[in-house]
Amino acid sequence: MTKQDRIIIFDTTLRDGEQSPGCSMNMEEKLRMAKLLDELGVDVIEAGFPVASPGDFEAVNEIAKTVKNATVCGLSRAVKGDIEAAGKAIKPASQDSRGPIHTFISTSPLHMKYKLQMSPEKVLDAVNESVTFARGFTDDVEWSAEDASRTEDDFLCRAVETAIKSGATTINIPDTVGYTTPEEYGAKIRMLFERVPNIDQAIISTHCHNDLGLAVANSLAGVAAGARQIECTINGIGERAGNAALEEVIMAMRTRADALPYKNNIDTTRITKISRTLSAITGFSVQPNKAIVGANAFAHASGIHQDGVLKNVQTYEIMTPESVGLTESKLVMAKHSGRHAFRTKLEELGFELGDNALQEAFARFKILADKKKEIFEDDLIALVEDEALRNNEVVKFVSLQIVAGTKGPQTAEMVLSIDGEEKSTKVEGNGSVDAVFKAVRALYPHEDAYLKLYQVHAITGGTDAQAEVTVRLEENGRTVNGQGADADTIVASARAYVNAVNKMILKREKINPQKIGVNP
Ligand code: KIV
Ligand code: ZN
Repeated sequence: MTKQDRIIIFDTTLRDGEQSPGCSMNMEEKLRMAKLLDELGVDVIEAGFPVASPGDFEAVNEIAKTVKNATVCGLSRAVKGDIEAAGKAIKPASQDSRGPIHTFISTSPLHMKYKLQMSPEKVLDAVNESVTFARGFTDDVEWSAEDASRTEDDFLCRAVETAIKSGATTINIPDTVGYTTPEEYGAKIRMLFERVPNIDQAIISTHCHNDLGLAVANSLAGVAAGARQIECTINGIGERAGNAALEEVIMAMRTRADALPYKNNIDTTRITKISRTLSAITGFSVQPNKAIVGANAFAHASGIHQDGVLKNVQTYEIMTPESVGLTESKLVMAKHSGRHAFRTKLEELGFELGDNALQEAFARFKILADKKKEIFEDDLIALVEDEALRNNEVVKFVSLQIVAGTKGPQTAEMVLSIDGEEKSTKVEGNGSVDAVFKAVRALYPHEDAYLKLYQVHAITGGTDAQAEVTVRLEENGRTVNGQGADADTIVASARAYVNAVNKMILKREKINPQKIGVNP
């Protein structure tokens, strides 16, 4: 091992991240994230748990067809049906680029006794059988010792040796409950290197949860001890307190290359964009003081700091905002810009729209430009992405008239097109947002769904900024997140609510295809 070794970045935003409550993504959202992860330069994308649901299977399968550079991985328990589903899901990739099947079983005394109710010997048999079976589908098999940090050393060594003998190419050592400390975790990995005879035949991987806020520190301690893969998620999303945050491990290695001299393939200038996209999709906003991607991560509020930064930026800045892709949104267009300039600018931003979509986006741009003096790149991105969200919607937002203010009653007069037929209503509410949401409910009843989150975010600065709204609905334990953008916050709210309703309809159809019609 040399200090300049390459660290494999295994992203599990779409699996462990997506498992956290309220973070579920539909297939289109997962595909969008997978493309961004691929562009970011991650080596492995764990795209889901294929046996868990047809949606998860389809997502892993589609991502395996689409992604160009990263390998695509599916999770499975040590169960033949799970492994088979994962093997089929990753099949679209050619054999030499086929990603890992990631199979896991618990190894700690607590988990084996209470969760698995299996003896240690039976667990070793299951490790052998599951890894051997997985190798029938791909040459790349990752095996995880769930709750490894609370597993006795002797048994962990036996389990790891068995997994490697059976054909595992990567061995993952999860701190499943976020219990360990950096010293302990580093010692555990070092112990495996010292005691497992065939350890040189596999890559050792870290997978740390953040229950004590130590996930990143533990991952880096694992690398210092010889691990060469880090499992992490964008914004650190994941079960409970989350997983090690990708942006933090990467920027720690880049900023402190003197102490952590390892290579990786991440284009750090893409970090801000992917972090914001994930927040918009899931409605999980990042805390302002979060390292690297929080709104205050590069803000200098105190006079002493501002003065220092003006004299020499390095006085208080250990990395530049540009290095994580945090740049001022450029002023791009104005009211008089024509269709040709609009198309050219969208192409520069990476969007290629068909004629109809371009026409609709241009019409919305003109309305926006009437309301907002200056149009920034971020405004155009929000507008086009909002337009894309509306493709194939069964319930379409048509128009909205609001009575707001102190005199009331606050009223929403709304027109929706439902399965091609326009319907309208006028509803009073306890405030204008309440009136809008009640109007959607009146036009498209959905009694079993509850509003779980309503969040507004300004896309650019100024009082004329576009609002980006996220609405989370929960129906029978299933959650969906809708998004909407508009210069008018109430219109953005209506768009987001309608988008959430459409996602709910899609989710119902997937679960019960024959029962659910388009009309309620
Ligand atoms: O945290 C964990 O142990 C996991 C395993 C499935 C790898 O996510
Ligand atoms: Zn995990």
